Amino acid sequence: MSLDHLRLPVIQAPMFLLSGPEMVIASCQAGIVGSFPSPNARTIQILDDWLSIITDALANSPKAAPWALNLVMHRSNPRRKEDLRLAVKYRAPIVITALGSPSEAVDAVQSYGGKVYADVTTIEFARRAASAGVDGLALICCGAGGHTGQLSPFAFIDEVRQFFKGEIILSGAIANGRAVRAAQILGADYVYMGTRFIPTKESMAQPDYKAMVVSASGQDIITSDAVTGVKANWLKASLIQAGYDLNNMPPAADINFLEAAGDAKRWRDIWAAGQGVGSVNSQQSIAKVVDQLTNEYEASL
Ligand SMILES: Cc1cc2nc3c(=O)[nH]c(=O)nc-3n(C[C@H](O)[C@H](O)[C@H](O)COP(=O)(O)O)c2cc1C
Repeated sequence: MSLDHLRLPVIQAPMFLLSGPEMVIASCQAGIVGSFPSPNARTIQILDDWLSIITDALANSPKAAPWALNLVMHRSNPRRKEDLRLAVKYRAPIVITALGSPSEAVDAVQSYGGKVYADVTTIEFARRAASAGVDGLALICCGAGGHTGQLSPFAFIDEVRQFFKGEIILSGAIANGRAVRAAQILGADYVYMGTRFIPTKESMAQPDYKAMVVSASGQDIITSDAVTGVKANWLKASLIQAGYDLNNMPPAADINFLEAAGDAKRWRDIWAAGQGVGSVNSQQSIAKVVDQLTNEYEASL
């Protein structure tokens, strides 16, 4: 599996409830890696169907970029073994693990030549994932949409580079082509971009959510663990809409990532986005976003 022919070194990041086959196919056809979190397919049968749709669509596009499946490895996810089995069945070119150890995925995915990237928010998690034998680490830095790290990208990547020789994906408020170039200068091989894709035509976000992202600026984002028990970045206006008092946020919620119905309800009512929202100024197709990112990237060289 080669990422050499990507148009840009960008991975459209997995987003709960927002990314599905349409987004993945459009991203891959535009020349960047497309991905989605497996829980977005509500059942194992739907996941099987989605993977079939994606592989069929991309089989007819020989120049398309590889796709990635995001698996939640937390023990509270009862589907993790079945979802991994489907990743193997469809030979997912890349599996990105989150919220738990990547160990179970490493042997299974590398056995057919796929790659495993682990999404990590701390140096400690990066060390553990590196020792599990992953091909790459996605470093989730401060400012990222959804569950976020707290480290500056300058600090995080430099420290990880001292003990990890594999691929590094940098993430957190990277939302324009110049920032992609800046990440490469810091030593990243790829970047992970989520927020930039929330208001795309192929995103499953509700229209009001897309509009809120387009009109928001960095100051409209708040970091809180009150919603899911883990620090995450949210649009302030969506918290207010859902009845929260921003000056008096409740204590951290209990962590249970896949108490599926409850989790989906929280994410449907309260909208995640990263500090890069200020760079997202219109609703476009993914093809247009990738054109714009490419122009910005090239102008920065
Ligand atoms: C709405 C939303 C939902 C997300 N859901 C997931 C998810 O299900 N699994 C995951 O690993 N990361 C998830 N993320 C995090 C992204 O994969 C990625 O780390 C983040 O978007 C990068 O930061 P950026 O938004 O500033 O580009 C989500 C992010 C957003 C904005």
